[in-house]
Amino acid sequence: MTNQPALSLDGVRVAFRDGLDERAVLDDLSLDVAGGELLVVSGRSGAGKSTLLAVAGLLRRADHGDVRIDGTSTAALNERRRSVVRRDHIAFVYQSANLFPSLTAVEQLELVGHIRNEPSGEVRHRARALLEDLDLADRADQLPAQMSGGERQRVGIARALMASPTVLIADEPTASLDPERAKVVAELLASAAHDRDIATLVVAHDSAALQHADRHLRLDSGRLHHVED
Ligand SMILES: Nc1ncnc2c1ncn2[C@@H]1O[C@H](COP(=O)(O)OP(=O)(O)OP(=O)(O)O)[C@@H](O)[C@H]1O
Ligand SMILES: [Mg+2]
Repeated sequence: MTNQPALSLDGVRVAFRDGLDERAVLDDLSLDVAGGELLVVSGRSGAGKSTLLAVAGLLRRADHGDVRIDGTSTAALNERRRSVVRRDHIAFVYQSANLFPSLTAVEQLELVGHIRNEPSGEVRHRARALLEDLDLADRADQLPAQMSGGERQRVGIARALMASPTVLIADEPTASLDPERAKVVAELLASAAHDRDIATLVVAHDSAALQHADRHLRLDSGRLHHVED
């Protein structure tokens, strides 16, 4: 682990209009996630978990406060600079894998390499190697429609890892899976975090994900609270 947190939220506030009132979904919230750490956040529906991930992933701006990625403050960056930081450092996984229907597993990964302007030979090699690492070598040439939900989700994670992210953000990645497949996906996220030194911030409720968390926090009333499991 590095000394400076890979991901830092500092005094983040996000409020929405609620009729005439304003409701703070994130209220002076601060959080550090170290490289190699898997942090799981849970909380009731509407607590602000997805909003927290959107702010941490530079998909939405906080009303106040800062997000630092590898020590780089992003509050004052314009949208173009923010999107460069996002592209170079942050990867996302959602409840459904959102794979391109017409691309095979290996092509889904190669696309990420091409977007990052990596040499084609290297992209091909890295994509195959990653699928192999994640035990997906035999799915490499299959289309999403030919895969199970769990396999699609694992390909989605492989695709996220293809970007060599500093920070991996996952919003309920196990929610649509049965317990056995949820366990495999949770294990995969944990080993991705630990082996690749990625700061991994996951919203989840299921025991499979919580079991693999290095830390578990609950979002309530705009703040994060430590949970003893
Ligand atoms: N763009 C928006 N405009 C107004 N209100 C919003 C907006 N986005 C989110 N909210 C409100 O902020 C609150 C938090 O939403 P968020 O999606 O972060 O919750 P969540 O914890 O992810 O919930 P769930 O578990 O259901 O996914 C909700 O009350 C939602 O209605
Ligand atoms: Mg949500």
